[in-house]
Amino acid sequence: MYMKVRCLSCQIAGTDQDIRNGCHPECAETLFGTKVPPEVPFSTPDIVSESQKMVGKMSVSGVQPKLSVIHNPIKRQLTVVERGGVYILKPQTDRFPYLPENENLCMCIASVYGMDVPQHGLIPLQDGRFAYLVKRFDRTEDGFRLQQEDFQQLLETNDKYDGSYERIANFIKKHSEMPGSDLLNLYERALLFFILGNGDAHLKNFSLIRPRDAAGYRLSPAYDIVSSRLALPEEREEACLSLQGKRNRLSHRDFVRLSEHFGLTGEQTAHVSERLIKLKPGIEKMIKASFLPESLISGFLDIFRERMKRMFG
Ligand SMILES: Nc1ncnc2c1ncn2[C@@H]1O[C@H](COP(=O)(O)OP(=O)(O)O)[C@@H](O)[C@H]1O
Ligand SMILES: [Mg+2]
Ligand SMILES: [Zn+2]
Repeated sequence: MYMKVRCLSCQIAGTDQDIRNGCHPECAETLFGTKVPPEVPFSTPDIVSESQKMVGKMSVSGVQPKLSVIHNPIKRQLTVVERGGVYILKPQTDRFPYLPENENLCMCIASVYGMDVPQHGLIPLQDGRFAYLVKRFDRTEDGFRLQQEDFQQLLETNDKYDGSYERIANFIKKHSEMPGSDLLNLYERALLFFILGNGDAHLKNFSLIRPRDAAGYRLSPAYDIVSSRLALPEEREEACLSLQGKRNRLSHRDFVRLSEHFGLTGEQTAHVSERLIKLKPGIEKMIKASFLPESLISGFLDIFRERMKRMFG
């Protein structure tokens, strides 16, 4: 008898013949460069204390504790580094239960929807709990550091919540080397983030990046996608960046107007929606098969269904 298991990276179910050591060998290969995932030689509390020591030293910041790590294929381990990290490791936190499981699920959904997202997966720590691991997109394979600026820096504000999708779009129109596709991608993100209840997509969670050999900047891959609505049901606003002057009670009409502001054609806008509607059963299946506990699975389904209904009826 084969046992049914799920891949810790893509979360697709398979038999224990296809999925060994936690991941599809192909998924492990893309994320780690080896068919077998490495071990993590520390546990959840270690990350919290280690990350406090790293404050100010690491080149990635953000609110949650996190570590910068590399993969040592000889030791088959992830090792913490101050500089030159290849991955970011985000552990469980007290404030949001099952945040790694939540983030990996959201990233899988974004990826299936066709968004440009970095490689990611769940990885067990020594205490048996999962951490979320994501590969950095601001490094090339040979360690070259790409220039990246987040929208709090770009829009020169002190408050990461003081912004709107329109302001991000206006900046892209002026400064991106590929404004057309960036605006389409930004619109897709605004819509999917609303549908998933990702209410903490503030200015620091959008960046422009300059790929190697590129003449200029463009929208970076999407990151830090979490159903904060699920993690914090008391969250006040549906979107922390306003769209059409609103952060709450968002409707289909608001999104259509947003897409007009972005300069998208009606056809483009309709296509973004149609692709999401078509994916509805698939996304529900992904939520049900996720690594979240039952109560959060049903909570996530409630959020997803309510938002889909509000958007598309
Ligand atoms: N995959 C990635 N590659 C490169 N930089 C990243 C990646 N993910 C996040 N970052 C950078 O690190 C910062 C913190 O990561 P984030 O996932 O947003 O953590 P937090 O949940 O603490 O906000 C982001 O604002 C972004 O600048
Ligand atoms: Mg963030
Ligand atoms: Zn997989």
